[in-house]
Amino acid sequence: MLKFLQRKIRTPKNVTIAAQKMGFEFSDVPRQWAMNDPVVTHLMNALSLTFPDGERMFVDAVRACRDAVADPARQKEISGFIGQEAMHSLEHDSFNEMLCAQGYEAEARGGQKLAQVLIGRAQEHMNKKQMLAITAGLEHITAILAHRLLSDPALIAKIDPSVRNLWLWHAIEETEHKAVAYDLYQDVSGDYRLRVSTFLSATTFLLGYTGRYTWAFLKKDGLNRKPLTIAKGLWRLFGYDGLISGTIPDYIQYLRPGFHPWQQDDSYLIEEWREILSGQKTLEQKRAA
Ligand SMILES: [Fe+2]
Ligand SMILES: [Fe+2]
Repeated sequence: MLKFLQRKIRTPKNVTIAAQKMGFEFSDVPRQWAMNDPVVTHLMNALSLTFPDGERMFVDAVRACRDAVADPARQKEISGFIGQEAMHSLEHDSFNEMLCAQGYEAEARGGQKLAQVLIGRAQEHMNKKQMLAITAGLEHITAILAHRLLSDPALIAKIDPSVRNLWLWHAIEETEHKAVAYDLYQDVSGDYRLRVSTFLSATTFLLGYTGRYTWAFLKKDGLNRKPLTIAKGLWRLFGYDGLISGTIPDYIQYLRPGFHPWQQDDSYLIEEWREILSGQKTLEQKRAA
């Protein structure tokens, strides 16, 4: 019954999942490009290190199971998902190269290598249902981070214009395809215990990984011994309505047996932010509205 109800919820009709090649070039990026804060910036830098291989892993997981879907409309969504994630990998490769050019070569290369090794091990030891469950769980995390960002124009304004469109574009597309891996998982398995256990383990890995590389970037800047700077950054992330703490109510939704990503219909955000991404409107006009 529960599965039947979940199956009735699908990606809204006003949402199109289609890949778009952006070809971002990054120049004159300040070292503290997010909220003018080194801790927030380096957390997002650390996340970016996971994206090229992480998104390729999502593509592999979805591709391995797509035969379970007969509906042409769903197959089109899956193709859109694969195309979008492939583009995210490429654009974040460029972003990570920019980090190397900024002087963080050891950190960026080391972080990408570790992500590659961890993902390789997971793919070696887990079956395709488990890999799809991990993908659905990590897609929930990217979707709630995207929602946090897109719901707060003041926050987007605090991302330096030299990199703003990359993060904006990625957040829009994560929202568009947020249910694709989840819906496929429901078709292929739907097992609740596997979904939740892989979600919690993936969260632990992601927190451990981003914590480690945020620290490595801070150390490179010599900021690891500046307790006040670190405390300020941690407050922005984990304090009242912080960047991460503000996502907790959405995070725990995934633990509900009847959860579906589109129970929170935030498709209105896609349309609004696409206007800004395409230059039809400025961020200032949006903030004034
Ligand atoms: Fe992505
Ligand atoms: Fe995604």
